[in-house]
Amino acid sequence: MERTWSVTYEELSWAELSPGEAELVKAAEAAAQKAYAPYSGFPVGAAARLIAGEIYTANNQENAAYPSGLCAERVLLFYLGAQGLVPQIQALAVYAPKLSHPVMPCGACRQVLHEYQQMSQNPWTLIFAGNSQRVYRFIGVDLLLPFAFVWRPA
Ligand code: THU
Repeated sequence: MERTWSVTYEELSWAELSPGEAELVKAAEAAAQKAYAPYSGFPVGAAARLIAGEIYTANNQENAAYPSGLCAERVLLFYLGAQGLVPQIQALAVYAPKLSHPVMPCGACRQVLHEYQQMSQNPWTLIFAGNSQRVYRFIGVDLLLPFAFVWRPA
């Protein structure tokens, strides 16, 4: 039996985002300016909106021992995880100022996004942006990681 996966997402301009979503992308853009990315020269900012409305931001953090660094998405998610706030995440935005197309999270971040979204009642809204006017909007992390690795200890 042949089966097919398909992914539905939107390509939009900033102007087509809701005011709250545009604010979230702007927060990610501002966060990218504080990235610690001296080795790659590739800053990334990430921002999360919680259900109650507040915004948290983070950015990539690198190190001379390259694998010790971490992507903006995981710095943000692990910070929110440490605060017990993951179940309250409603939306996430990621912004890479050096890309002229929307930045897409790496495979490791998709895995972490996937597991953490399972702590939320509703799928997260995900907005990916670069320095152009076009952004991608996904509803739900599942679309980003088909056949995700999922396992729970008994
Ligand atoms: N990076 C992120 O922070 N998020 C992404 O979605 C893609 C890559 C970081 C990791 C590294 O610090 C730099 O960008 C270059 O890969």
